[in-house]
Amino acid sequence: MSKVFHRMPGHAYPVAVRGEGAYLIDREGRRYLDASGGAAVSCLGHSDRAVTAAIERQLGLLPFAHTSFFTNEPMEALAEALVARAPGPLAKVYFVSGGSEAMEAALKLARQYFLEIGQPQRRHIIARRQSYHGNTLGALAIGGHAGRRKPFEPLLFAASHVSPCYPYRERAAGESDEHYGARLAAELEAEIQRLGGDQVIAFVAETVAGATLGAVPPVAGYFRRVREICDRYGVLLILDEVMCGMGRCGTLWAFEPEGVVPDLVAVAKGLGAGYQPIGAVLAAQHVFDAVMRGSGSFQHGHTYLGHAAACAGALAVQRRLHEDRLLARVSALGAQLETKLHAAFDAHPNVGDIRGRGLFWALELVADRASKAPLDPELRTHARLKQAAMEQGLMCYPSGGTVDGARGDHVLLAPPFIVEPEQLDELVEKLAHALGSVFAEPVVLR
Ligand SMILES: Cc1ncc(COP(=O)(O)O)c(C=O)c1O
Repeated sequence: MSKVFHRMPGHAYPVAVRGEGAYLIDREGRRYLDASGGAAVSCLGHSDRAVTAAIERQLGLLPFAHTSFFTNEPMEALAEALVARAPGPLAKVYFVSGGSEAMEAALKLARQYFLEIGQPQRRHIIARRQSYHGNTLGALAIGGHAGRRKPFEPLLFAASHVSPCYPYRERAAGESDEHYGARLAAELEAEIQRLGGDQVIAFVAETVAGATLGAVPPVAGYFRRVREICDRYGVLLILDEVMCGMGRCGTLWAFEPEGVVPDLVAVAKGLGAGYQPIGAVLAAQHVFDAVMRGSGSFQHGHTYLGHAAACAGALAVQRRLHEDRLLARVSALGAQLETKLHAAFDAHPNVGDIRGRGLFWALELVADRASKAPLDPELRTHARLKQAAMEQGLMCYPSGGTVDGARGDHVLLAPPFIVEPEQLDELVEKLAHALGSVFAEPVVLR
């Protein structure tokens, strides 16, 4: 038996040995179309030679120099590249090694900001139910998925949770986007007032909710109202774009279409595209200035932050996105994927909702479309779907607990930006077969 402490030690994982564009290939030669980028990571597929060459070049020069002694060229260049494409107030980049670390850094920087500006009483974080911000204790504490939190609850700091923006289930019948957004914003304001207007550090949200809710874009106007409320009470807005950012939704920053700019934004998965582990927090100028004018240092740090080879890889990813106009491709192929998903699954008796943006889509699975009744959690539909899809040679990302942390299933799709239209057909066909085997339904593809 393997000596690796695998995620599920009892599960027999195929051994991945090679990547080829949108496909992963196992030791037996089986090919898997990576329709989820693992967990929305591999946005350039698995064999991007421009990225691997940049990493190899950097490894030959300087793999690593600890950031308490040195800065390094790729880290400086990557920060320049990110800030150059970020809206005005976002001015500085703090590098880490992944999404959870990015969220930890954002939370601590937000708290330290208020110490620096003389508001040490602020100590509350408000996040949203059904959110996912990572698995370290701080990130899990703000995460809103009851099932994922439960075993570790005694170790988690107390955070507040308000409603997510989840129109499929939580917008009232006949309620307009505007009214729904305003209702959610009012709930946030009420929570800030309950905690004390000058007691709250930050409101944290995934711009497009990903892993635990399943690719839910916000309704128009929601974030604009949230931003107004945060400003009214001096609360920082932290957007978690670890999954939805870096082009996944068709714009480099998922917040772009929302007409707001956060004070802090976390990115990770698409930043390194899986070629190296890396994450980052972009901070607004006023946050940085507060630290500079105050203590002069952010009281945080990890050994591998600003890793030279990771930054070189992420810089090459940025170049691919912009020089090869991949964001336009995400929008165009995303529109195609949307059409294909609707054609294949609009009439499926167990597909309650199809939602997403760019190349970030999800199907929410239900027992009954009319009542939106979730499937019995005992059926573990999401786990069976993952297995059925793997048997079809398809990687997708199903998850459970969509509705309330216990009930509900969805499947997330996040194909690479280099995906070809015929691979989208393959994706839909294989997903239809996998759903067909899980629900014992005949497959009808139009
Ligand atoms: C929105 C969001 N934040 C944070 C994380 C945590 O990232 P990581 O797994 O790299 O620690 C994830 C991972 O799925 C995520 O989706």
